[in-house]
Amino acid sequence: METKPLKIKILGIVGTPIKNGNCQYQLEEALKRAEATGRAVTELVLLEDYKINYCIGCDKCMRKINKIQAEVGHDVFPVPIEGYNCSIKDGMEELHLKMLDADAILLMAPVYIASIPGQVKTFIDRCRTFVHDFRLLDKVASAMTIGFFRNSGQDTALDLMRTSLLAIGLNVVSYGSSSVSTREGLGVPIKETRFAVKEDLAGGVMVDIVVKKLVRTALHIKAGKLAMVESEGGSCTSPGFWE
Ligand SMILES: Cc1cc2nc3c(=O)[nH]c(=O)nc-3n(C[C@H](O)[C@H](O)[C@H](O)COP(=O)(O)O)c2cc1C
Repeated sequence: METKPLKIKILGIVGTPIKNGNCQYQLEEALKRAEATGRAVTELVLLEDYKINYCIGCDKCMRKINKIQAEVGHDVFPVPIEGYNCSIKDGMEELHLKMLDADAILLMAPVYIASIPGQVKTFIDRCRTFVHDFRLLDKVASAMTIGFFRNSGQDTALDLMRTSLLAIGLNVVSYGSSSVSTREGLGVPIKETRFAVKEDLAGGVMVDIVVKKLVRTALHIKAGKLAMVESEGGSCTSPGFWE
């Protein structure tokens, strides 16, 4: 009997106000490499296309989680919440659903003043429900960044993104990739080299590693869950597993 290859779904999220820039280009390349394995389907979203308001700190997401936990048990893992769990109705609703539907998340943002753009921080803050509801617990993630100069904030940006992805309950599977968008990382933006990230060989190698680890680990998690369901009738995330 012919078996279909198991595939995972990767959601690529790019957070920059510049459309069709270096960040979008490199994330698209990463997703193409993932698809070339024959084991991944991908989707790219641009935060710029979504209206994302600041988190207002209302705690509504947490209160709902606490209420469910009080009803069904404080050690329930993940918390059985359906769909969107935020008081603000905006573009985040669609983004949360896409995140919940994916097996892997690849977050790309440029270096802005040795950090990440406010747009990306706002997006991360609005993922607070996942910190407490553990609904992303079987998914993997990696971060990618691009700056003008070599070593001018890429590590800080990556660190922030990795830690944030971990904090919202994702399993970060690689150090991440860091690239430059000016020739040789000299920090000179030349019109002809607007896409200098294409020339950054070191950055390209890091992207390769990020993609390979992401696809491989996501596939293994998915295969492991399916195997447990087949042999034991449920996986570690099935209701009742931790009782
Ligand atoms: C507000 C702002 C701050 C920036 N700060 C840094 C920085 O600290 N270090 C750096 O290497 N590049 C910095 N850059 C450059 C961007 O990281 C770089 O242009 C990157 O390629 C942007 O991605 P894009 O090509 O997709 O637009 C900054 C750009 C802007 C607009």
